[in-house]
Amino acid sequence: MAFDLVIRNGTVATAADIFAADVGIREGRVAALGEGLETAADGREIDATGKLVLPGGIDSHLHIEQLSGMGLMNADDFYSGTVSAAFGGNTTIIPFAAQHRGQSLRDVVKDYHERAAAKAVIDYAFHLIISDPTEQVLGQELPALIQDGYTSFKVYTTYDMLRLDDYQMLEVLALARREGALVMVHAENHEVIRWLGERLLAGGYRAPKYHAVAHARLAESEATHRVIALAELLDVPLLVVHVSTAEAAAEIRRAQDRGLKIYGETCPQYLFLTAADLDRPGAEGAMFCCSPPPRDASAQEAMWQALANDTFQVFSSDHAPYRFDESGKLAHGPEPDFKHVANGVPGVEVRLPLLFSEGVGKGRIDLNRFVALAATNAARLYGLYPRKGTIAVGSDADIAIWDPLREVEIGAAMLHDNVGYTPYEGRRVTGWPEIVLRRGKVIVADGALDAERGSGAFQPCASAEAAKPLGRPAPELDPETNFAAHIQPEDSPT
Ligand code: URP
Ligand code: ZN
Ligand code: ZN
Repeated sequence: MAFDLVIRNGTVATAADIFAADVGIREGRVAALGEGLETAADGREIDATGKLVLPGGIDSHLHIEQLSGMGLMNADDFYSGTVSAAFGGNTTIIPFAAQHRGQSLRDVVKDYHERAAAKAVIDYAFHLIISDPTEQVLGQELPALIQDGYTSFKVYTTYDMLRLDDYQMLEVLALARREGALVMVHAENHEVIRWLGERLLAGGYRAPKYHAVAHARLAESEATHRVIALAELLDVPLLVVHVSTAEAAAEIRRAQDRGLKIYGETCPQYLFLTAADLDRPGAEGAMFCCSPPPRDASAQEAMWQALANDTFQVFSSDHAPYRFDESGKLAHGPEPDFKHVANGVPGVEVRLPLLFSEGVGKGRIDLNRFVALAATNAARLYGLYPRKGTIAVGSDADIAIWDPLREVEIGAAMLHDNVGYTPYEGRRVTGWPEIVLRRGKVIVADGALDAERGSGAFQPCASAEAAKPLGRPAPELDPETNFAAHIQPEDSPT
């Protein structure tokens, strides 16, 4: 049977290989990889000479059309968010369906589906944010939702409206272990941040830069250590998201070296921004407020090392878009104190170009590692692999064709989100995704979008026990105590 489309003469890269091959696409999937593939039925070809043919990116941590704890709606809805993602070389996103306390998770998921189905132009799955792990949620809703393809959830150790205590965290971890889901944790010590924040404000230290002081490095490493201990107690996989410090990365590494299935994630803001960015004139520093905050040059270096040496498996944008106006960052006035600045920075469109340029281009990571961080690892961890996250016969033809030599100056005006600013304004990168195919359809080419609203499709995730290929198999729990085998009964409370 003839192909619908052939990508010819490109260099294909996956997380494992780099090879010259044509890619034959039929019915939305990769149908053949090889030299000199026959011509497509109606002659449709893309000449990828001199280009890299890579799996479409999977951005697995971003906030789209989500209401914050402060009651602010993100600046991007599922249209602008997915258009921006597509122009940045992504073909799948995994944003959050966020439960606020008192809400049924089923209702939350239904709500997010309604938002996404009519607008998304690329494919999507959902992580769940669990802020209210009631008996109903833990006993009924979550087990059923996991079966339906929502196999990962984010929990928080901080934020008044979201945080779980350690007991609740254990309940969620135990459920994840039982049902084969993956827990992602935002790890910062709430009381440390609260204590420091109150004293800073009492002393008159209100400017955005004090956000980075209140969110002390120790607050992150302490909470990281603690949540790893909780995961160890139950011998359950855990992913620590948006890591910003060398100390937290070291906690993750130590756990991995002891054989625990602990995973890590970092984001562009921790490679390219520092706390000094929060000290811009006036309220401008608010544009860079996110949690955890950007740190310093040595932390940036530690993040690069952790990406290169597989301490971190995931590189996401944590795109949390708020405009620099009264709808977002300045909702509490033109000079808000740091406690009243919406948390988050945009980055879905520049995540991959920044990583490619500064990572591959500067020799910090190789091209295979880039692909792993861009797409493959997220697909594996969250249960989308091999349908997504690679270029292989039978996989969805989600492909980004990159010009590795194209030089681009990043600026808000060229981006497709609805944020109005970028923290990376004026930064020059080399390498850009020029053509993007979603399930075999060209959706971005020549700087233009060709995708209908709502043409993105929901992708249910397999059990996140798909984390297994990256780690060792989980040992059995002691059938009597229900604790991990290395926790002796005499150590356990009765
Ligand atoms: O500051 C951030 N990262 N805001 C988004 C919410 C979160 O915690 O990921
Ligand atoms: Zn977070
Ligand atoms: Zn986030």
